[in-house]
Amino acid sequence: ARQAQDILSPEFAQDPYGNYQIMRESTPLVWHEAMQSYIISRYEDVERAFKDSVFTTDNYSWQIEPVHGRTILQMSGREHAVRRALVAPAFRGKELQKKFLPVIERNSRELIDGFRQTGSADLVSQYATRFPVNVIADMLGLDKADHDKFHGWYTAVIAFLGNLSQDPEVAAAGERTRQEFAEYMLPIIQERRAHPGDDLLSALCVAEVDGTVMSDEDIKAFCSLLLAAGGETTDKAIASVFANLLRHPDQLAAVQADRSLIPRAFAETLRFTPPVHMIMRQVAEDVPVSGGVIGKGSTVTCLIGSANRDERRYADPDHFDIFRSDLNAVNAFSAAADHLAFALGRHFCVGALLAKTEVEVGVNQLLDALPGLRLADEADPSEQGVFTRGPASVRVSFDVA
Ligand code: HEM
Repeated sequence: ARQAQDILSPEFAQDPYGNYQIMRESTPLVWHEAMQSYIISRYEDVERAFKDSVFTTDNYSWQIEPVHGRTILQMSGREHAVRRALVAPAFRGKELQKKFLPVIERNSRELIDGFRQTGSADLVSQYATRFPVNVIADMLGLDKADHDKFHGWYTAVIAFLGNLSQDPEVAAAGERTRQEFAEYMLPIIQERRAHPGDDLLSALCVAEVDGTVMSDEDIKAFCSLLLAAGGETTDKAIASVFANLLRHPDQLAAVQADRSLIPRAFAETLRFTPPVHMIMRQVAEDVPVSGGVIGKGSTVTCLIGSANRDERRYADPDHFDIFRSDLNAVNAFSAAADHLAFALGRHFCVGALLAKTEVEVGVNQLLDALPGLRLADEADPSEQGVFTRGPASVRVSFDVA
């Protein structure tokens, strides 16, 4: 039988999907010594890991706490339910449309205005890496002059989270970022408590559920989580929507002609090239999985990127097809999702509708502003990364009016 390459090797990063296929077939449950983790790769198993509460997020207390502090991701049970209820309202459809749609539209337009007259652009460095982070900073009501500073922290936080090989310098930079971020945010949070405005930060300060309110430290930790959870993911998602569509010009033409297909294009992108490829869990009991057993207390790496290409779940899974019938584009952004890109169950992505709104606004504005959009001659939108994954650049050309 063929053997998959080491998930931490450069060869694996060149061809994760080919390797995932081998893993699903021959080693659906496998121990990885360097990562000190089991790895699971089939849809059925990953879905269960997200839904079954035997799989906890206790591992996050050492994996993300050093950079974020304590966030809802580490929590479970009632504590998680209450904390999540405190933050969730701001990310629901109605609130988003009413309060934050103008913020999203403005931030997208400002970036596009920077290159629409030039006939060419890199949609990653000039658009995708900036747009979602600017939106979060603006939703929180932070000073525009601080957007660059915010972007710098974002870069350090995602470097820390992606530090699978545990480079001590990256770890130390993460700790420093946590301190700088706290020194910046805490006075602003106190200021908003005294003078609440119409922004997300003020909403978090006054939110109350069952007599519970968030401390300054809770709010700061949540904002830090938003940087990573809402920035890098949406950044990679937008870049991948364009990379996928530009490689399939017939499907791009269909979306250009009928913008109501954008949610389908985004849903299929989330399945085909999810921004987050792996999520860790820890098991509270011995759990039998795919013919083996994950021992109590062990960490397990759940391969979303593999599950979303499982031939047991999808017809012709390696084919990008926005019209596929086994993916429902309405469910795709709810906890009824037909893909695992936002996880499922208790920790299902709080920001799924925000991400959908950003992608809809972004794709619409870019298609309107950049007629004749095509990959530039020297373009190589190939993907990088095994923890999070997306194109390093998407160089495009377009007509200038
Ligand atoms: C949770 C993916 C956009 C905020 C998650 C999880 C995934 C995910 C996989 C589950 C993590 C786990 O269970 O360990 C994505 C993807 C996005 C995206 C692929 C874009 C395409 C956003 C945005 C925000 C956001 C825009 C907010 C600004 C969160 C938060 C959680 C979360 C706060 C934690 C929920 C909880 O613990 O209950 N996301 N996300 N995400 N996401 Fe997203």
